[in-house]
Amino acid sequence: MNPEIRNFLRKLEERARIHDAREPEHSRKLLNLEPETAELVSIFARSSRARRILEIGTSNGYSAIWLAASVGQDGGRILSIDRSLEKHKLAHENLLATGLLQYVDLRLGDATEVIKNLSGPFDFVFFDADRTSAPDQLTLLLPKLAPQALVLADNALSHPEEIHGYLSMVKNLSQFQHVLIPVGKGLSVAFADTR
Ligand SMILES: C[S@@+](CC[C@H](N)C(=O)[O-])C[C@H]1O[C@@H](n2cnc3c(N)ncnc32)[C@H](O)[C@@H]1O
Repeated sequence: MNPEIRNFLRKLEERARIHDAREPEHSRKLLNLEPETAELVSIFARSSRARRILEIGTSNGYSAIWLAASVGQDGGRILSIDRSLEKHKLAHENLLATGLLQYVDLRLGDATEVIKNLSGPFDFVFFDADRTSAPDQLTLLLPKLAPQALVLADNALSHPEEIHGYLSMVKNLSQFQHVLIPVGKGLSVAFADTR
C-alpha cells in the first residue's frame, strides 16, 4: 500500500482512539476496525480480486479507505452505507484527503432501506454495522450476490448475542462455506458459491 495512505490510516487510528476514549455516547464513537482485522479484510479483497464491494457501516471511512486502497486501482468499487450524517461527512472528508473518493460511493441512510434499492451484483460484502439487522440485510442481499462472493462480518466474538442470528444464518445456508477467525473482535468469513 502507498506509504502516504498507510500514514494517513495510522493518524486516523490514533485520532479515533482518543475520540472514542473521550466520547461517552456510543453512537458517536467511531468504532473503527482493529488494524489487524483491516489488514486481513484488505488481503481478502485483494486476493479475491473483488470488484463490486458493499460495506455496511462506514463510520469515518477508515475501513473504506483500506478497501479503496486495496482494489481501487484495479477497477474495484466500494458502495458504503452509514445512517449517521456526521460520520458520512467525515468519511467524505477522509476519502477526499487520500484521493480515494473516486472509488467509493458513500450512501447515507438506514442500511436495510438502502439495500432494498441496490441492484448488485456484489462479489464482496462487509458487515460492520448493527448486528441485529444483519440477517434481514443478508436475506435481501442473497439474490444480489455474484455467483462467487465473499461475505465478511466483524464483531463475531465481541458481540456473540447480537451476532448470533447472523452467524446461524450463514452456517445454515448450503451455498455458504464459513469460518470464524479470532482476529481483532472476531471476523466471520463466508464464501458463497451458487454457480
Ligand atoms: C463499527 S462502525 C463502522 C466502522 C467502520 N467500518 C470502520 O472500520 O471504520 C458501525 C457504523 O455503522 C453505522 N450503523 C449502525 N447501524 C446502522 C444501520 N442500520 N444502517 C446504517 N448504518 C448503521 C453506525 O452509524 C456506525 O458508524
